Amino acid sequence: MSSALLRFGPGAPQQLLSLARQACGGLRALSEVAVDHHAGEASSSLQQQYIDRENRYGAHNYAPLPVVLSRGEGVYAWDVDNKRYLDFLSAYGAVNQGHSHPKITQALLEQLSIITLTSRAFYNDVLGEYEEYITKLFGYDKVLPMNTGVEAGETAIKLARRWGYDVKGVPKNEAVVLFAEHNFWGRTLAAISSSTDPESYGGFGPYMPGFEIIPYNDLGALEQKLKANPNIVAFMVEPIQGEAGIVVPDAGYLSGAAKLLHQHNALLIADEVQSGLGRTGRVLACEHEGVRPDLLVLGKALSGGVYPVSAVLADDEIMLSIGRGQHGSTYGGNPVAARVAVAALKVLVEERLAENSDKQGKLLRSQLQAIQSSRIAEVRGKGLFIALVIKPQGGVTAWEGTHEVAAARKGPITAFLISSEQNVVRVA
Ligand SMILES: Cc1ncc(COP(=O)(O)O)c(C=O)c1O
Repeated sequence: MSSALLRFGPGAPQQLLSLARQACGGLRALSEVAVDHHAGEASSSLQQQYIDRENRYGAHNYAPLPVVLSRGEGVYAWDVDNKRYLDFLSAYGAVNQGHSHPKITQALLEQLSIITLTSRAFYNDVLGEYEEYITKLFGYDKVLPMNTGVEAGETAIKLARRWGYDVKGVPKNEAVVLFAEHNFWGRTLAAISSSTDPESYGGFGPYMPGFEIIPYNDLGALEQKLKANPNIVAFMVEPIQGEAGIVVPDAGYLSGAAKLLHQHNALLIADEVQSGLGRTGRVLACEHEGVRPDLLVLGKALSGGVYPVSAVLADDEIMLSIGRGQHGSTYGGNPVAARVAVAALKVLVEERLAENSDKQGKLLRSQLQAIQSSRIAEVRGKGLFIALVIKPQGGVTAWEGTHEVAAARKGPITAFLISSEQNVVRVA
């Protein structure tokens, strides 16, 4: 997956366009090349040494491009051979504020020398400031701090279940949470229990009960489920699906879903771990439809990429259904995380990154749409959350093509153009 940093300057779309053209050229050339010729090969023996060591001592649960990065600043990253890249991965949307943003790293460094971790067995003098700042910023009564996106997703589901039992009156152990096909919210057992990707869930059963899946962008299917089962407590959904390949639902989908859920006394959980915090040209993707979810799940750019910070926001009726001792995490809400999150959110607001994302995204999409290439089936997205859908040619997929482009990089700057979907290339 790749995504342009929101700090994109005025000249950047031109650079990006030449890269996209280069990518299409690379893909065309690929049809004559053996598929596995370049995949996995590093461009120098130095890079290969790093790759070999990771492969030897690390678990093989990722399939990285053969590029070994050692430094980052703003929209750029450098490899160990000092080659510069325009980073369209943005750590899966976690470094929306740019690599090593000085205000965020400064907050991190300052807090590191004061106190780092107290555990939640004590209060600390930073957490309250963060809680007040984030709840006022997004307009919720309370926040529950966690670390990773998947933990925040799981927290939201626990909250919805407890609300279902305590407030809605669902019979014990009968609560059902709905998910959309092709969702992605992580790789824990709960997350894969709602996954429709066999690579993600296959061979890891048994799965979490009380999860049901409906097609994405299908209000009829949602309504049918809600009518059929009064024990549905929530629908957890990405306003724009990220890992599925930047899938933008029809206008009115999210607001329609919110309406249906409220009619049936069920909660909307918006998973904005990837779509949130400026990525789609709004601070939250839900804003495109004027929707205020009952539970808002944030992660990734909540720390600007310097520390794992995630959160769930909700009002008291929902949040207080989990009592003391019923949920938590050793690191959740620690002083470093709290300081970093405030700094990361302030950068987003003060530097108007959502507005920049909206402006640059419009320009970029219109110009990508203007590229004459028989390989591009579709350009889609919002803000700087953009995908090029590539038509496979000669049995060669976009995934293989991006490896080819990475391996063949010649100029001073190359973009990362990758996606977990075989024929979707994320260019922003
Ligand atoms: C929409 C969404 N939710 C949740 C997650 C999980 O976040 P994390 O990897 O921090 O656990 C991801 C990760 O890509 C995501 O895209």
